[in-house]
Amino acid sequence: MEIIIQSADQLQEAARQFIQEMGENTVFALYGKMGAGKTTFVKALCEELGVSDMITSPTFAIVNEYRSDENGELIYHFDFYRIKKLSEVYDMGYEDYFYSGALCFIEWPELIEELLPGDAVKVTIEELEDGTRRISM
Ligand SMILES: Nc1ncnc2c1ncn2[C@@H]1O[C@H](COP(=O)(O)OP(=O)(O)O)[C@@H](O)[C@H]1O
Ligand SMILES: [Mg+2]
Repeated sequence: MEIIIQSADQLQEAARQFIQEMGENTVFALYGKMGAGKTTFVKALCEELGVSDMITSPTFAIVNEYRSDENGELIYHFDFYRIKKLSEVYDMGYEDYFYSGALCFIEWPELIEELLPGDAVKVTIEELEDGTRRISM
């Protein structure tokens, strides 16, 4: 499946489309270069899922937890960019998140590839030359 986002005003519609395609999957690994639009897309997804108090601090921890006001469910947003050793990921108790059944959106999954659940859905976000974003799942 592919979603094209031509400008920021199409983000929410793209997020709705993505959510419809998620099915029973809970762990989503978001691949893409720095600046591709991973964080922005996760924000759009969380908004569509009913999160109203998203923290967008630049000093983002490895994992941020959000709660949907619509159904009370937790959503976890990971950014492994600054990970230096896998032991940091073990220490944060990654399994408790990945296997919790809660939605998990993961930036920089390539840095923890061997810890991803086998059924994690691989998503790629690319910025094309004209600034359009292409999301492939
Ligand atoms: N779909 C989009 N349309 C227009 N601008 C976008 C889009 N997605 C991201 N951006 C912009 O690109 C920049 C980088 O986005 P960000 O989500 O932080 O990337 P990443 O997390 O992949 O490094 C931000 O300034 C953001 O506003
Ligand atoms: Mg990011």
